[in-house]
Amino acid sequence: GDNVLYLAHKHGVDLEGACEASLACSTCHVYVNSDYCDKLPDPEEREDDMLDMAPLLQENSRLGCQII
Ligand code: FES
Repeated sequence: GDNVLYLAHKHGVDLEGACEASLACSTCHVYVNSDYCDKLPDPEEREDDMLDMAPLLQENSRLGCQII
């Protein structure tokens, strides 16, 4: 589907996404621009759990494959 991971790949952005959006990795970790942070629904618990394992976690961290 048209999640951020898919769009990144489509546009040649080097974002890994090892588990192909099945919430089994954190390699699609992205930082969301502050202008958009408030517009996104909060991450679900499964995304939060995976995010906890992402390196360099920030307030605006999300998993790219979960942003649609
Ligand atoms: Fe693995 Fe997003 S690609 S959680």
